[in-house]
Amino acid sequence: MKGFGIATAIAAASMLVSKVAADVDPIVIKGSKFFYKTNGTQFFMRGVAYQEDVSNSTDSTYTDPLADASICSRDIPYLQALRTNTIRVYAIDPTKNHDDCMNMLADAGIYVVSDLSAPDQSINRNDPAWNDDLYERYVSVVDALANYTNTLGFFAGNEVSNSKNTTNASAFVKAAVRDTKAYIASKGYRPLGVGYATSDDSDIRVNMADYFDCSSDTALNIDFWGYNVYSWCDPSTYSTSGYEARTEEFESYSVPVFFAEYGCNAHRPRTWGEVEALYGDDMTKVWSGGIVYMYFETENEYGLVSITNNKVSTLGDYSNLSKAMATVSPSGVNSASYSPTNSVAACPTVNSAWAAAASPLPPSPNQELCSCMFNSLSCTVKSSVDEEAYADMFDYVCGADADACAGIQHNATTGSYGAYSMCNSTEQLGFVLDQYYSAQPSSQRASACGFSGSATLKSASKPTGVCSSLMAQAGTAGQGTVTASPTTGSGAAATGGSGSKASGSSSGSKGAASTLSVQNVRVGSFALGVSAFVAVLSGAFALLL
Ligand SMILES: *[C@@H]1O[C@H](CO)[C@@H](O)[C@H](O)[C@H]1NC(C)=O
Ligand SMILES: *[C@@H]1O[C@H](CO)[C@@H](O)[C@H](O)[C@H]1NC(C)=O
Ligand SMILES: *[C@@H]1O[C@H](CO)[C@@H](O)[C@H](O)[C@H]1NC(C)=O
Ligand SMILES: *[C@@H]1O[C@H](CO)[C@@H](O)[C@H](O)[C@H]1NC(C)=O
Ligand SMILES: *[C@@H]1O[C@H](CO)[C@@H](O)[C@H](O)[C@H]1NC(C)=O
Ligand SMILES: *[C@@H]1O[C@H](CO)[C@@H](O)[C@H](O)[C@H]1NC(C)=O
Ligand SMILES: *[C@@H]1O[C@H](CO)[C@@H](O)[C@H](O)[C@H]1NC(C)=O
Ligand SMILES: *[C@@H]1O[C@H](CO)[C@@H](O)[C@H](O)[C@H]1NC(C)=O
Repeated sequence: MKGFGIATAIAAASMLVSKVAADVDPIVIKGSKFFYKTNGTQFFMRGVAYQEDVSNSTDSTYTDPLADASICSRDIPYLQALRTNTIRVYAIDPTKNHDDCMNMLADAGIYVVSDLSAPDQSINRNDPAWNDDLYERYVSVVDALANYTNTLGFFAGNEVSNSKNTTNASAFVKAAVRDTKAYIASKGYRPLGVGYATSDDSDIRVNMADYFDCSSDTALNIDFWGYNVYSWCDPSTYSTSGYEARTEEFESYSVPVFFAEYGCNAHRPRTWGEVEALYGDDMTKVWSGGIVYMYFETENEYGLVSITNNKVSTLGDYSNLSKAMATVSPSGVNSASYSPTNSVAACPTVNSAWAAAASPLPPSPNQELCSCMFNSLSCTVKSSVDEEAYADMFDYVCGADADACAGIQHNATTGSYGAYSMCNSTEQLGFVLDQYYSAQPSSQRASACGFSGSATLKSASKPTGVCSSLMAQAGTAGQGTVTASPTTGSGAAATGGSGSKASGSSSGSKGAASTLSVQNVRVGSFALGVSAFVAVLSGAFALLL
């Protein structure tokens, strides 16, 4: 009876386990291909983008597509009927529980590739930054999904640079790739790829692909490259669609490449002529399949299905895709008989067509360092000052005293970054006010922390312990290089986001990044004596505030 009792307990426990964790064979990367880990069969994505549109959302609202079991169970049969083995999700809420959806997807043999950003927390191409707030968001998504065996990987950005004048933003995305990969390794998670999803812009696409896969230290490079391609509009062909040229471009690429979105909708219902090409012999030598854009019908008119009163109706795009997908059977190679030969690309030359230096990359976010610095200041911005007013304050101080701003500068084209350029805007502003203040002769200091009532003296805490060693690396003027691992809000090294969202501004808001540049000089007279300068600032702020 005792034995029976134990057996029952074991059976019950294993049932519990299988309910909690439905396992699939993880996908692994070798060279420029994906494989099932256990049997080495090559993996080709038959993907569908699965999220109600977030692309137009400018606030923080989005619907986590993996948090509602009833919706997942409603939709998974429709995905399965298309032979879907991968979904792409664009924004999940790391504070929610994803067990049910992830396990149902695993049971259906469906893997997940997830973007790390959120509508209000992403790298902004016009005002790029890689900072504490974004780092915390990214690693919290990693923590939320890393344990599921059907998590295939992450995108550190989607269509960030999309023109020559936004190529400098790619430096920040590459820093995000670097730090997210380092985080995954530091947590001891199984190997999970971090990639990027690019738009298809003829001006920059070759440089883009090269930039993200050009460092000899591959810890800095993407693990896979996703291409959002809409260039095949039926009727079309392998050659006229541009697919042939793209395939040639990627023949020598050293990591997997796939379509992270596809499906031109110039004519509906879409007939999906590209599916045969994508999974045919010409392309499968180079590409690992792709992800159809997208499951849900919205005003965009890219949907495979429409949802009314929680009921799914398939559209013409769906039935045609189903027919096209039924016929594909790409034959790949087995991992054991595959010896990768491709190597990393050469980094693009910085010139009028490419504005991001490949080295050095922007510094790693480190919230602990930023708080240490902020606590150490004697002169800082008053908490009553609205963030909207920061821009003018940066302009004035940096215009008058460029040295005060060296520690927060960020020029992706020259690759020059202050050690505090990843801090939030309050911390950065405090830093420059204090730099300015501290540079004044003691006789004048009393009046140098005024800024017309926007700045205030406070008691500075002398850095000790970890603070003192981090700040020593950063240097007094913030021009040093900090080699310590990134940290998030809790201050402990490489802890997870634990769902706590950094308060206040987002990457998209007007922080220091948009306004700080030494070119932005408004009070440009370096000849002014210190007290005259303070007077000018005071006058100006009296008008402003
Ligand atoms: C390898 O494993 C995958 C997933 O378990 C399976 O779909 C595939 O058919 C297997 N390959 C072979 C050759 O059995
Ligand atoms: C790039 O150019 C576009 C179009 O001319 C413009 O709208 C955008 O603001 C520019 N971006 C930057 C960062 O200068
Ligand atoms: C992931 O698994 C580890 C080990 O089983 C566990 O300690 C951790 O809490 C899990 N994390 C999540 C987010 O489920
Ligand atoms: C998003 O914005 C674009 C451009 O303004 C518009 O064409 C499109 O219909 C919008 N999509 C949604 C889902 O609102
Ligand atoms: C696509 O769908 C339309 C309407 O549902 C149908 O008339 C057409 O034959 C389909 N084409 C293909 C290639 O499946
Ligand atoms: C970056 O530095 C270069 C070289 O000094 C300069 O030409 C460029 O204007 C700077 N860019 C910004 C945004 O400050
Ligand atoms: C990136 O380039 C844009 C356009 O030239 C410029 O306004 C911006 O300051 C640059 N940003 C960085 C961080 O280099
Ligand atoms: C920046 O961080 C400091 C703490 O170091 C906090 O007091 C401040 O509110 C934050 N500012 C923004 C804009 O998030």
